[in-house]
Amino acid sequence: MKKIYITRKIPGPGTDLLREHFDVTVQEQDRPASGEELLEAASWADGMLTMLSDKIDKELMKSAGSLKAVANYAVGYDNIDIAAATELGIGVSNTPDVLTNATAELAWALLFSSARMIVPSDRLMRSGRWSGWGPMQFVGADISGKTLGIVGGGRIGTAMGLMSRGFGMKVLYWNRSRSGRLEDEAGARRVEFEELIRTSDYISLHLPLNGETRHLIGPKELGMMKPTAILINTARGPVIDETALVEALRNRTIAAAGLDVYEDEPRMKEGLAGLDNVVVTPHTGSATRGSRGDMSLMVAGNLIAMLSGKAGEQCLNPVIFSENKEEKQS
Ligand code: GLV
Ligand code: GLV
Repeated sequence: MKKIYITRKIPGPGTDLLREHFDVTVQEQDRPASGEELLEAASWADGMLTMLSDKIDKELMKSAGSLKAVANYAVGYDNIDIAAATELGIGVSNTPDVLTNATAELAWALLFSSARMIVPSDRLMRSGRWSGWGPMQFVGADISGKTLGIVGGGRIGTAMGLMSRGFGMKVLYWNRSRSGRLEDEAGARRVEFEELIRTSDYISLHLPLNGETRHLIGPKELGMMKPTAILINTARGPVIDETALVEALRNRTIAAAGLDVYEDEPRMKEGLAGLDNVVVTPHTGSATRGSRGDMSLMVAGNLIAMLSGKAGEQCLNPVIFSENKEEKQS
């Protein structure tokens, strides 16, 4: 029986499904697997079910014994060196689609929370210091009719845009290719990056992390934003220069931010936690019962496919599977 290592307990039926096909070992502690645990598992596992916090680099994969598949329990896969995996004949997969709405919904939750100062409001109520209704209290930002700028028009960015329809927002997006759905169904307009940054009231990031997107938002871009702008990040922390963001929030270069992801997880940059114009969540974009359950089935299906020599639908480097090699040659 082929052996699977699951780097951390996941919710949903996926683990039981895997047990029907494989000899499954789960890292049971409520913490990420350590580097040593990952290395040790790579030495005997045929397949690994990994979290976005597990660094699966070339060194680890080179040292592996019979490792043939790495199935990431996430849509993002910047934690895995795909080029090295392909070179070493290891299949890699992710979990797209099933978490698209959940992640866009969290982006909206952060947007609303930032605009209307929900967290400081809640804090005041609990403190017992509320003196009663006041015309100057918690006067926040308007949402309906304002401009939403979507950076990255993939699945999640598109969902974010479609959800804005109820608020009659003007939607701008910046993406390498045209998104027919954003344009046709949300009336979005594709613009240059700088126009989006300069004119949006809300800027929401929906890009994968790679060499081109690291620190896409730095001091210069923050400086170009409206002083009333609110920045939302549910993508990956390093897309923003977080130190520059702390400065910009402190100096009110921009009004507020809603963050689910951080440059150096699980840490936040110095000063961020002390600011009252930022709302922070612990990387829970996909954390709904539905999405996490569906991700669990999808990741199990990916391992079953890849370990039976098939790419399956979510394989990111299908070229390593012979069915595709033949296709390519013919
Ligand atoms: C979450 O960040 C994911 O990539 O699934
Ligand atoms: C990821 O799912 C994206 O395309 O936004």
